[in-house]
Amino acid sequence: MKFFIDTANLEQIKEAQALGVLDGVTTNPSLMAKEGITGKENILHHYKAICNIVDGDVSAEVIATDFDTMVKEGEELAALHSQIVVKLPMIKEGVKACKYFSDKGIKTNMTLVFSAGQALLAAKAGATYVSPFLGRLDDVATDGLHLISEIRQIYDNYAFETEILSASIRHTMHVINCAKLGSDVMTGPLSAIMGLLKHPLTDIGLAKFLEDYQKGN
Ligand code: G3P
Repeated sequence: MKFFIDTANLEQIKEAQALGVLDGVTTNPSLMAKEGITGKENILHHYKAICNIVDGDVSAEVIATDFDTMVKEGEELAALHSQIVVKLPMIKEGVKACKYFSDKGIKTNMTLVFSAGQALLAAKAGATYVSPFLGRLDDVATDGLHLISEIRQIYDNYAFETEILSASIRHTMHVINCAKLGSDVMTGPLSAIMGLLKHPLTDIGLAKFLEDYQKGN
């Protein structure tokens, strides 16, 4: 399973990259605003800065909601850097734009996906990635992980190449459960990735090894 980090915070992206396990980055307008990155030029500049830190795919979201402007914005984003993936909302115009970009060989990420039907449409439109938001489904008392398993089954039935990018990951158990269900990618906060590292028996065991080593030296 690929690990993407879901943030526009450069320090956190650098920390995940330094760990050696990072495969890419996802962002959205809310994450950009959280870092105080506003205005088109600053946002484009920030995407380039992210691409210069990581080796893998970097999702950059269009703001437009009509086909023509989505295409214009998406082409501008794709021209920024070879690692850019054009992120499109799961609406009718977004599906059309997804097909347009996939026909041109430009990578896409269909975002704001909350149902198996939407994921099926994304695959039919040739999306590179589909982003089901599992945390936001959990927030409204709906099993987000169940959606991941439904999409896995549908994509496997027809050998769709679209990669399931489990998004809106909130914690470490989401990461583990996505891996168990065969999600191709997960995108989450740095805390969800670093949580994989933790076990008290590791810390206790290491302390004992070091203590015993000191006794013999
Ligand atoms: O990748 C999608 C993500 O940014 C949404 O996460 O935590 O705002 O639901 P969240």
